[in-house]
Amino acid sequence: MTLASAPGKIILFGEHAVVYGWPALAVPVTQVQAQVEVSDSVQAGIWIDAPEIGVQTGMGDLPTAHPLAAAIMGTLEALAPPLALPPFLRIGGSRRGISIHIASIIPVASGLGSGAAVSVALIRALSAHLGHPLTDDQVSAIAYEVEKIHHGTPSGIDNTVITYARPVFYVRGQPIETFRVGAPFTLVIGDTGIPAPTRESVGDVRKLWEADRDRWEKVFDEVGLIAETAKHRIEGGESMGLGELMDANHALLQGMTVSSPELDHLVLAARSAGALGAKMSGGGRGGNMIALVAPDLAEAVAASLRAAGARRTIITTVH
Ligand code: MEV
Repeated sequence: MTLASAPGKIILFGEHAVVYGWPALAVPVTQVQAQVEVSDSVQAGIWIDAPEIGVQTGMGDLPTAHPLAAAIMGTLEALAPPLALPPFLRIGGSRRGISIHIASIIPVASGLGSGAAVSVALIRALSAHLGHPLTDDQVSAIAYEVEKIHHGTPSGIDNTVITYARPVFYVRGQPIETFRVGAPFTLVIGDTGIPAPTRESVGDVRKLWEADRDRWEKVFDEVGLIAETAKHRIEGGESMGLGELMDANHALLQGMTVSSPELDHLVLAARSAGALGAKMSGGGRGGNMIALVAPDLAEAVAASLRAAGARRTIITTVH
């Protein structure tokens, strides 16, 4: 039996603009995890059991465009010598059966990277179980291909921060760059409980951009400057100065039409409860928001968010 897990993630700054090549900052959230267990089974073939998403089936019955099927096929293809395709037959050919159990406590479509976390844990557990653990670069690349099924045109930030499980200053297409956290800081994450339609919001921002590139690239410039300033402040241990940057980034995301009344309501509730700044996080129109708080105010801000309608809250310290 082989076990692997992967954390959730939260975007601190730069979502949406990151799709077009501007920088974004994201950190792992280890309070939530996806876990995958792969074991041998007496039945030939591959059996998948993922109760949280209602999947309990043989691999052959999953559509090839299903994210789990894509993660499994991507892993097998990376393991198989190119001439030995189809790879799943090669592995099943020895009558070896495999059973995959997926358990994730990361809420789906909430901006916490549940899809990427399941992919990363699955690719790691499966490749290790078959005796050839893939490298982080390979894991991230396969998870990125799966993200395309989830999101259409993903920037790659989710699979990157989740695979490497480190704070990431992410620029699409560039080598992974982590950043140092000069002084720990505390965030409260508040979930609207509304699934974030990331494919739709990313698509709508693309329509805005296609209709008026000059205008939206100026907005992306502002977002990018916020992400860069935030990185310097985090590295310099000036994390209290992130609050105003969160407020400014939230306003720019509102302009992109990707916030929502529920997100705005939680953002205002956090600020009224004493947060130093707050913004939506991820695809938007649902999912999560984040608030920067002094550690001794974290519980009170979380309670205010729940009173304002947050379905759940997570307090996390970034270090
Ligand atoms: C989704 O977690 C973040 C977006 O920027 C999309 C992406 O980067 O792929 C909205």
